[in-house]
Order: sequence, then C-alpha cells, then structure tokens
Amino acid sequence: MSMVFSSDFIEAIRSAQSCLVLTGAGVSAESGLMTFRGMQGLWDDFNPQELATPEAFACDPKKVWEWYQWRREKLPLVQPNPGHLAIAEMEKYFQNFLLVTQNIDGLHQRAGSVKMVELHGNLNRNKCSRCGIMIETLPDSDEVPPRCKCGGRIRPDVVWFGEMLPEATLKKAWQMAGMADLLFSVGTSSVVQPAASLGLVARNNGAFLIEVNLEKTELSGMFNQVFLEKAGQIMPLILEEIVKAKTGKY
Ligand code: OAD
Repeated sequence: MSMVFSSDFIEAIRSAQSCLVLTGAGVSAESGLMTFRGMQGLWDDFNPQELATPEAFACDPKKVWEWYQWRREKLPLVQPNPGHLAIAEMEKYFQNFLLVTQNIDGLHQRAGSVKMVELHGNLNRNKCSRCGIMIETLPDSDEVPPRCKCGGRIRPDVVWFGEMLPEATLKKAWQMAGMADLLFSVGTSSVVQPAASLGLVARNNGAFLIEVNLEKTELSGMFNQVFLEKAGQIMPLILEEIVKAKTGKY
C-alpha cells in the first residue's frame, strides 16, 4: 500500500512535540480479537449489561467470570500486529508521548509500548471484588470464580460500565490531552466516555487530530484528517512519515 500524505498532516507531525495516541479494540482486530461494535462485534452476541457491570457480577459471578476466562484464553494464541508495533515505535520520536488504550488485552505492551496507560484495566490481572487486593496467583478451588483470603469473590482487574476509571491513569491521560499538539485516535468507535472526550480536550487546545478507523465514527467530523483504513496497514506508513519528519532519514 502506498500513501500520499497531505502537507498539513506532514507539517503537523514535523512541528509536534507532544503526541497522544488513543486506541480501542479496532487496533487488535487484525490480531484476531473481536471488537465490541461494528461488524461481528462482541456486543452483537452478548449484552454488556449482563457481562460488564458490577451488578452483573453480583447477580451471576460465574457467568461473568467465565466470559472473561473465555476472552483470556485467546490471548496467548494471538500476536501484536503491525499497528501495535508501529505505535510502539512512535514513542521514540516525540519529546512527550503517551499511548492511552481502552484495550485490556496487553498487546500494546507485548509490542514494546512503554509510555502508556490502560484506561480500562488488564485482562491478565485479577483483584478481589471485596477488599480490592491484587491477586497474583489464583487459588486452587472448585468454586467459580475462586475466592480471596477475605472471602470475597475474585474478579478480573478491568473497568466495568458504571465503575470509576483508575484515578492516576485518568489524570495522566487528561493532562496529556491538554498539552498534546498531535492526537491519533485509532480503532475506537469513540462512543464510550471518558475516553472519547480526550480528542475534544486536545482539539480545544489546538491539537491536530487524526482518526484511523475502517468507517466513520460519530466524532469523525472533529478530526483534521480521517484515514478510513486498517490500523495494521496505515500505522506503519504513518510511522515512516514520522521517522522522515523527525530525523530527515527515510
Ligand atoms: P469498539 O468495538 O466500540 O470499536 C472498535 C472500532 O474499531 C470500530 O469503530 C471499528 O470500525 C474499528 N475497527 C475495526 N477493525 C479495525 C481495523 N483493523 N483498523 C482500524 N479500525 C478498526 O471498541 P472500543 O472503541 O475500544 O469497554 O470500545 C470502547 C469500550 O467499549 C471498550 O473498552 C469496552 C467496550 O464496551 C468495556 O468493556 C467497559
């Protein structure tokens, strides 16, 4: 795939010192993980109210636990794709950089991203739903889900609908949105708050906004540039452009 980038886009990259990249499930689609919305999304077959809320867990902990176990079991079978890898490289080329992901699959870390925060937690971690302690190793138990020493049920360390996002993480993301001069929104439907508002904050501060998605989203109108492309195809080309702009080398 070849691509001719606009001069506005190239100039925005060249002059940017602070770059924020927001990602969603679409960035992992080419690794073989399902998105939530859009073509064959998880929320077509499953009801988020019955699986991704504290009420659902209180009502049917086994069902919720097993759904996350099912998603968890896929992780060792998939690999980061060129989109993840390009985003991991990008952090080397800006004075300030932050990747803010809504994904809980850990693929960005496996691709080498370091300057990053996870807004919705991580599927590979567990915590107690009662005392909140992190559980490193699941206890041997026939009960599903297993219990913490305190007696509380163990749950995945992810953020469910209706729950607060981790405060320090949110603060970092917000701060970066306020100072970024470049923001990429990659593979997210931009309907879940507060992640979707990061672009708005950045735009109000004069950032150049770029969206990468297979289709237009509700927020496409506010972006300076929209690429209707697969993240795994376009992000490596964008990385090339960044390397060129920042180092003068090709
Ligand atoms: P969504 O599933 O809502 O959106 C994924 C987006 O990626 C869609 O807009 C697709 O068009 C796009 N897409 C699919 N394949 C792509 C590809 N190869 N390249 C680029 N784009 C592609 O996922 P999120 O926006 O991440 O929260 O969803 C946000 C939150 O809603 C999730 O974190 C999750 C979900 O419910 C919770 O579970 C709390």
